[in-house]
Amino acid sequence: MNLIVANESHFKYAQDICDTIADSAKVRGTGIAKRTPEYIQRKLSNGNAILALDGEKFAGFCYIEVWGHEKFVANSGLIVHPDYRGQGLAKKIKAKIFDLSREKFPDAKIFGITTGLAVMKINYELGYKPVTFSELTDDPEFWKGCQTCKNFDILTRTEQKMCLCTGMLYDGNTKKKTEEAKEMNGKAFTRLKSIKESLFLKKK
Ligand SMILES: CC(C)(COP(=O)(O)OP(=O)(O)OC[C@H]1O[C@@H](n2cnc3c(N)ncnc32)[C@H](O)[C@@H]1OP(=O)(O)O)[C@@H](O)C(=O)NCCC(=O)NCCS
Repeated sequence: MNLIVANESHFKYAQDICDTIADSAKVRGTGIAKRTPEYIQRKLSNGNAILALDGEKFAGFCYIEVWGHEKFVANSGLIVHPDYRGQGLAKKIKAKIFDLSREKFPDAKIFGITTGLAVMKINYELGYKPVTFSELTDDPEFWKGCQTCKNFDILTRTEQKMCLCTGMLYDGNTKKKTEEAKEMNGKAFTRLKSIKESLFLKKK
């Protein structure tokens, strides 16, 4: 398995990446920001994306987005092809994109929003902390990305204060997570998510 910083020679993978993201969102039944192949190609070309390839086969992907005049960066669009899940690949991709983010944008805070327990776990281990949306970027362009998510009405109703996603932030300026820091409480996140769903999702 090769984890590489992507470039124009990888444009051929854009459609595969989009399809895998869309199919996975359908299977999970959760909201997700939609991405077009053209959008993914822009990410592949600017040196801000990590691609995992098994020979010539697409295995995984994640990219960096810059917000609020480089005060914040997000590691977005994480996807592992179903054939390669459960082998620690997402963890490796996230670690690599995290290092690339720190290298290219050393003064930026790194953040993400997610409903996925796997992503929360990985982020937590990298030193991210769960935070309220008010601590994330207020760059309207970032939040516009949520418009294509099926839960966007919740974000609108709460005046962008909360949604089903949890915000997570890595602030390089705050003290490093200590060795004895507790493991992330996965059960608490799952419970929080189900409380939010029962509060915000309209009953069918
Ligand atoms: C989420 C996803 C990226 C995980 O990829 P992966 O390569 O299977 O993940 P890893 O093997 O690196 O697992 C990382 C950790 O998450 C856990 N994990 C993996 N999938 C999980 C799941 N569905 N639910 C709960 N925990 C999960 C693993 O057990 C592991 O934890 P551990 O270190 O305590 O054992 C992959 O399932 C995927 O692409 N899903 C669809 C897209 C998606 O949800 N993207 C995130 C959008 S924010």
